[in-house]
Amino acid sequence: MAKVTVVGAGKYGSTTVQRLAEMDIADEVVMTDIVEGLPQGLALDMNQSRPIEGFETRVVGSNGYQETAGSDVVVITAGVPRKPGMSRMDLLETNAKIVGEVTRKVADASPEAVLIVVSNPLDEMTSLAAEVSGFPRERVMGQAGMLDTARFKHFLAEELGTSPSRVEAMTLGSHGDTMVPVPSMVKVDGKPLTEVADAETIERLVQRTRDGGAEVVALLKSGSAYYAPSSAAAAMVAAVLGDTGEVMPVCAWVTGQYGIDGVYLGVPAKLGRAGVAEVVELPLTDTELAELREAAEAVRSKQADVAKLIG
Ligand code: APR
Repeated sequence: MAKVTVVGAGKYGSTTVQRLAEMDIADEVVMTDIVEGLPQGLALDMNQSRPIEGFETRVVGSNGYQETAGSDVVVITAGVPRKPGMSRMDLLETNAKIVGEVTRKVADASPEAVLIVVSNPLDEMTSLAAEVSGFPRERVMGQAGMLDTARFKHFLAEELGTSPSRVEAMTLGSHGDTMVPVPSMVKVDGKPLTEVADAETIERLVQRTRDGGAEVVALLKSGSAYYAPSSAAAAMVAAVLGDTGEVMPVCAWVTGQYGIDGVYLGVPAKLGRAGVAEVVELPLTDTELAELREAAEAVRSKQADVAKLIG
């Protein structure tokens, strides 16, 4: 029996649960939140869509962790989102407290689970969850690269008048200012990006991708993005539950690949039932490699700050 827990029944958490239920890949999806009635009400509402949507997954809402026991995968979305003008880093202290607390409970209830962290600032919260859970690092990862890549593909497809399904791309690095978009790996309609777009256009789209989350936050005025983020998280859950071996850009523990060691960073990783089966090394240009190493050092120093926060 496949069981998934999503911690946090806010925008990101509830849309992830909805996507997972409609994908019909788990017997049960449990959604837990501190707000009384919220997860229960959302679960009831989603279950009532079952006869129309035709999924079998049972959605359960709770305010505790008993119902989450024995989960195969746990997605952590608990935390506060950004307000306009805020950077993800401004959430650090508040979300470190929340993510630390929920990770402890999740790890007790589901000691064999694969953890997928999505709370921001992403790289730091993933590192924190690994630390607090004490889980082997391959069983703890974060979602950011799938989302950044999807945003990049969307902008490229719009700009170049093609379907997003005809764009191959990958973003690495951190979920923030040091995101590395890897233009050398981009193909549009099978052609290298440099053949179909000039340098100025590429730089503009790269920058828009880096600022992709902030652009949505500024428009929404309250809360942050959740449709594309929940698609990304649900795809990762599906790869783990289905043991597919798909290579996805995720925030994973890097152990020497790309000349980087001992840090959580956005890299391509092969996902399966045990979490990250392998960090995949792509042939990057010297500039991209330098950017990735720079991102690693930026994240490394922040992750050390987080370790201090939780003592
Ligand atoms: N335990 C469980 N749930 C919690 C806790 C906690 N300790 N603290 C907060 N929550 C819940 C809130 O009650 C709320 O329902 O987390 C939920 C957050 O939902 P939203 O405010 O709608 O935020 P959301 O858009 O879902 O973003 C969540 O993901 O993208 C990131 O930056 C974003 O860190 C943020 C997270």
